[in-house]
Amino acid sequence: MKPAELQDRARAPGPSDDFMHDVVEGLSRAQKTLPCRYFYDTRGSELFEEITALPEYYPTRVEAAILRDCAPQIAARTAPGSVLVEFGSGSSTKTELLLSQMRDLAAYVAIDVSASALEDARMRLRDRFRGLRVDTVVGDFWSAEIAPDLAQAPRVGFFPGSTIGNLEPADAQALLKRFAAVLGEGARLVIGVDVMKPASILIPAYDDAQGVTAAFNLNLLTRANRELDADFDVSAFRHVAIWNEAKTRIEMRLVSSREQVAHVGGREFRFAAGETIHTENSHKWPADIFDQIVLGAGWEVAEHWTDPNQLFRVLELRARV
Ligand code: SAH
Ligand code: AVI
Repeated sequence: MKPAELQDRARAPGPSDDFMHDVVEGLSRAQKTLPCRYFYDTRGSELFEEITALPEYYPTRVEAAILRDCAPQIAARTAPGSVLVEFGSGSSTKTELLLSQMRDLAAYVAIDVSASALEDARMRLRDRFRGLRVDTVVGDFWSAEIAPDLAQAPRVGFFPGSTIGNLEPADAQALLKRFAAVLGEGARLVIGVDVMKPASILIPAYDDAQGVTAAFNLNLLTRANRELDADFDVSAFRHVAIWNEAKTRIEMRLVSSREQVAHVGGREFRFAAGETIHTENSHKWPADIFDQIVLGAGWEVAEHWTDPNQLFRVLELRARV
């Protein structure tokens, strides 16, 4: 696509149009960026699943253990005929811990940008939970809608994985407000949030010995080459994970190993040796900071659970109103 066509074209239809727009826009900034939601093409979703099994990546294991313990309490507060709505559902593996305790749900609605992850999850859940209505929505959780015939059912939101931490605090609050609007009056939201801990634990979790996280990060450039006809030399970039103490977040970046030029959408992007593309933030907010974000978004913390080492938190939020 040529730059003029790019500007003329309306942004709405089709994820690849957004991808082109967002890549060109992100690489045009003084600090080059690429949005992390584009990690999750088919290969990216597979690599994320590999990350969840890495010895260094504690969040998945720890959150699943917490959910295993608290799922019966969450289920006990869920009325028959409710809808469970998951945002960024991925493989829906943790969801099974809730579904196995929740009886007579009207539906489970899984929202994700990754069509392949949704399809794999739908097939697996169909076999394990026969009779459960599973709606998969391929789309952005900022805008995705739930089927109108489920409008009257009580809703429980589920947002595990600390995906909320991938957003800047103001965006995290805006997204939680959006979830409150989508889920409606009287809604609950079960959310998993990572917490601050020493960089000696965090850095290996985002820069593992086997190089899976590096492959996940670099796959963004491979995806741009394939889907946007870009010409990144993927071998000339390397993955880094940095702890940003001031913002209490891990930052993933791709470092250009040499001076080079890449082309995307008819535009030329120059990289100095050592220049970075900022690809992801993963915030590790202190508990009180996250609880303020929650309050400002129209929710209150009804219950919270953690693991014995206090590495991760699961919160049950209730809509205030
Ligand atoms: N909930 C799962 C997966 C977390 S990985 C777990 O806890 O393990 C993050 C997931 O969110 C991915 O499946 C990714 O495709 C999805 N995702 C990221 N940004 C998204 C967005 N803006 N809208 C919808 N899904 C998104
Ligand atoms: C989905 N998200 C919460 C993950 C995280 O930990 O920030 C994505 C990820 N990035 C690198 N490893 C995992």
